[in-house]
Order: sequence, then C-alpha cells, then structure tokens
Amino acid sequence: MANVTIIGTQWGDEGKGKVVDLYAQDADVIARFQGGNNAGHTIVIKGEQSIFHLIPSGILHDNKICIIGNGVVVNPKVLLQEIDGLNQRGVLPPNTKLYVSEKAHVIMPYHWRLDIARESHGLGKKIGTTGRGIGPTYEDKIARVGIRMCDLLDEQVFREKLAKNVEEKNFYLTKLFQEEPLDSEAIYREYRIYADRLRPYVADTSMIMNEAIKKGKKILFEGAQGSHLDIDHGTYPFVTSSNTVSGNAGCGTGVGPSLVGAVIGICKAYTTRVGGGPFPTELSDAIGDKLREVGHEYGATTGRKRRCGWLDIVLVRQSIRLSGITGIALTKLDVLTGIEKLKICVGYRTPQGEFTESVPSNPRLLAQCEPIYEELEGWKDDITKTRNIGELPSNTRRYIERLEELAGVKSVLVSVGAGREETIVLKNPFIG
Ligand code: IMP
Repeated sequence: MANVTIIGTQWGDEGKGKVVDLYAQDADVIARFQGGNNAGHTIVIKGEQSIFHLIPSGILHDNKICIIGNGVVVNPKVLLQEIDGLNQRGVLPPNTKLYVSEKAHVIMPYHWRLDIARESHGLGKKIGTTGRGIGPTYEDKIARVGIRMCDLLDEQVFREKLAKNVEEKNFYLTKLFQEEPLDSEAIYREYRIYADRLRPYVADTSMIMNEAIKKGKKILFEGAQGSHLDIDHGTYPFVTSSNTVSGNAGCGTGVGPSLVGAVIGICKAYTTRVGGGPFPTELSDAIGDKLREVGHEYGATTGRKRRCGWLDIVLVRQSIRLSGITGIALTKLDVLTGIEKLKICVGYRTPQGEFTESVPSNPRLLAQCEPIYEELEGWKDDITKTRNIGELPSNTRRYIERLEELAGVKSVLVSVGAGREETIVLKNPFIG
C-alpha cells in the first residue's frame, strides 16, 4: 500500500503524534486534512518533547513534504510561532518543505472571540471547546463568507472581506454578548504582516500532492482529534466542527478517495475525553486518577484534565466501520501496568434494559447507557523495554488478543512508552 491514513478511534488524544512521527520515516509527504490548532500532538525524541498544534508531526524528518491541507483551519499567528520555534531550536531539517493550501480557511480574532463568548455566556449548550475559534471558522466556510489563505494574500480582497465580517461579528459581540467590538483596521495591519511572512508557504497543495503521487511518492494522511468528535458521526453536539473520519482525508487535501490507502486506527488502551458530552466508561475513582496521572492525561492544547475510563470497544468498533480501518495501533499500553483487574466495555445496556453494540445517536440515551464489561487479569511487570510481542507478559498479550478479537481487526503496532523507540512494530502499513 503506497499511502497510509491515520485517524483516532476514540475522542482524540490517542497518541497519534507518536505514530505519525514513526510512519513519517517511510513517507514522502505528510498531510493534515482537518482541524486546526485545537489539536496538539506531543512527540518525544531523545527525551525532548515537541508539541505541534498545526504543523504536521512529520516535520522533524528530513527530505519530506509537509502539507497543511485545504480542510484545515489555520491560525496564522500560531503557524508562524511553530515555524519560528522549530527554527530557533535548530530542529527544522534542511530539505523538508512546508506548504499551506491556498484554500485553507484562516482563523480570525472574531472567531475565537465568538467561540469563547458562546461558551461563557451560556446561551446554548456548553460544549467545552478549546476556545480556539475552530467552530466559528468552519461556520464561515460553510456560510461562504470565510477568508482563505489566498484571500489573505490579496490585499484588496482581504480588506473587503474583513470589513464585512467584522461588521457582522461586532453585531453579535456587542448586541448579543454585550462585549467590546473588534477593530477592523488593527486586525488588517496585524494580518498583513502574517500574510507577507506566510506567502512563501502558500501553494496549490492538491497539485503538489497529486504530482507526488504520480511520481510514486508515499503519502501519510495525518488525522487530528478522533472519530467520536466527527461533526457527522461523533457524539453530536459534543464534537469538533470537521470530519475526522478517513473519508475526509481525500477531500481535505484535494486527492481522490481511492488514494487514502491503508487506514490505521489509533486506539489508546483505555479511553479519555476532554470537554463535555457522554462517556459511558468514565471512571471517577482511584483507577481513573491513576490513568490520568500515569498517562499524563492533561490536554496538550488547553492543559485541561482529561476524563479517563476503561477501553470501550463499542466506540472502537464504530470507528472501524466508519473509516474502514485496516489495522490498529494500540497506544499507551504501559499505562495499564499494575492495575490488578482490567475491564473492556463490550456493549451497552440501554435504559429499556436492551443490549446494544452501537453508539446511540441521541446524547441523552448514550448518557443513560450502562457499560457491560468483560474483566481481564492485569500484569505487574514493566513492559516499556519490550520490543517483541512474544516477550510481553501473558496477561498483556491476552489483553491485546481480546481487543483484536472484539474489534475484528489486527494490530500493526503496540506502543509501550512515549519515546519513539518504545514501540513493538508488528507490520509496516506502507508495505501491503
Ligand atoms: P473545538 O474543536 O475547539 O470546537 O472543541 C469541540 C470539542 O472537541 C471539545 O469537547 C474539545 O475538547 C474537543 N477537542 C477538540 N480538539 C481536540 C483534540 O485534539 N483532542 C481531544 N479533544 C479535542
């Protein structure tokens, strides 16, 4: 398989960054297709941590093309900060190129002002967003009033679009939320500087990707967030505002759907969620606290505490169906070490007492569902040094096998620690 798509099978934060970083070694092009700086990918290389919010995680490898696709929403200030940070630390490889789609929509100050105002004024349902303006930017895209990278670069178009948008958004800010208005001229001056600095990176990235594919180059599509945060298929309304499933990899980068390739679902050995919304296997006890502390389950973007719970196969199976997942990358297995009895949720009991293996679309029903667990024996031995699946404790192997049986998909990789090398590789998805 020449191309590989990576997506999260849960509510995000599955450890995609590390897997993308590993697979980036074999890829020529690494492309993000949705989301924005609501994402946060943590990578540890030689003990040093890097967190990326916008730039594809493959950026640390030499001789790569990194793409921020048309489906991504871009905060230019954050993007420039990431580029500057990499340059200052001297870790930007000399022959790696970064491109931003000219069709990617730009996150503007009124987007995060509206995002925060909505969440704090309690007019609607509180989603617990990251406050980065993601939802309002996608709203403008769909409403056909958004500012794209190509508009930002065109002085006249930018000025006109900005003025119209600020007029409308100031109405909401001042009249609905009783907040201070924004100054269109100040935003114009600030964003002109970003435009000049980002100009060399802005390109027809669909063309770049298709040319690369024609030359037989390997593409890695890097998903952000997780399947259950998908705007169509997630636990609506407690979702993000983009399609996180693999079907969007082509649309969000401008290549055909037949090119998405192998689909690797990243599955954390337990479940976490940030923000509001139902979470059937959530643990509010000492085990939940242990998962949070040992797994460092604090948001990479907002620093918020992540809610923690047992592995929920109902969620994972739905992701497999939605994205045509061909292999599982099981992450953070080491975090479970030392827990005496482990539980996997295999189905839900509905409020009517029925057994279901699917995720109810109605959030009220999902919140009332009771998880049905299978219990497995835990293990005590440190597994972080293990590089061969056969050398794992028998209970650890049993946990992996049971997960695979319940999911109906085999693992391609098992991560036993945060470091690049703390990985058991079972199959390279780029090779068949
Ligand atoms: P938004 O994407 O900022 O609009 O937030 C919508 C919901 O998605 C909130 O519950 C966020 O906590 C969640 N969310 C967004 N990005 C991520 C992520 O990268 N990891 C986990 N949750 C996320």
